[in-house]
Amino acid sequence: MEHPWNQAIDALSTVHVKSNPNNEPVTVSGDAGEFKCIGVGTDAAVFQNPSQPMYAYKIYDADKLDKVEVEASVYKQLGDSPYFPTCYAARGEVLVLSYESGTTLFDCILQGVHIPKQAVQDVEDARDYVRSKGLNPRDIHLKNILLQDGRAKIIDVSEYVLPGNDFRWEHLKRGYDQYYHLIDGSSVPFWLVETVRKWYNQTGEGSSYEEFTNKVMKFLFKK
Ligand SMILES: Nc1ncnc2c1ncn2[C@@H]1O[C@H](COP(=O)(O)OP(=O)(O)O)[C@@H](O)[C@H]1O
Ligand SMILES: [Mg+2]
Repeated sequence: MEHPWNQAIDALSTVHVKSNPNNEPVTVSGDAGEFKCIGVGTDAAVFQNPSQPMYAYKIYDADKLDKVEVEASVYKQLGDSPYFPTCYAARGEVLVLSYESGTTLFDCILQGVHIPKQAVQDVEDARDYVRSKGLNPRDIHLKNILLQDGRAKIIDVSEYVLPGNDFRWEHLKRGYDQYYHLIDGSSVPFWLVETVRKWYNQTGEGSSYEEFTNKVMKFLFKK
């Protein structure tokens, strides 16, 4: 059977994605025709065709072909779950996913969109589900979670085969419980979110959650 995404993958072969150093987002070049770019990450860019809105095409850097297979196999192992998109196919550097509506938690913070407790609990439950499937829920951060009708959807599962805990989600969850009321309903300026994000990424493993949050609070409130 001819799947609807085969033609789309052919049409997207003119699009090229190149990753950048220092965890910066990818650079996209070429002609995407009627497709629009709906997001970029550090490994891939994601496209949607308005005449086929249910699909999202995640195009990886051609040098990272192995990651496509890895992510497809993680989706297979996860099976059907409300916490994750559906993965329909993998071909070359393209992964065909269900398009998921919503706003990343990163954009929620920029736009002052309220992040409900239920969404945070959903991520906790999703992590338990991932472990129950023999995988390791890693790389769970604000740009990899969508707020969709008040619930959370995790959109990037590529690292779940790697070992180790990166503590990103644990730190975000603690930060939410302790400090979210301070920004709830406010649009936080981009420069501020980026400053905190970069500080966090530069902080070595030896530094604790308390040290980090104390530094940020001192910077913001001089106390
Ligand atoms: N299935 C999807 N539906 C809608 N948007 C998506 C989907 N997958 C990814 N995106 C958007 O594309 C961005 C990059 O995708 P992501 O899978 O996180 O790439 P990377 O592996 O490079 O980090 C996400 O932050 C999100 O905005
Ligand atoms: Mg990502």
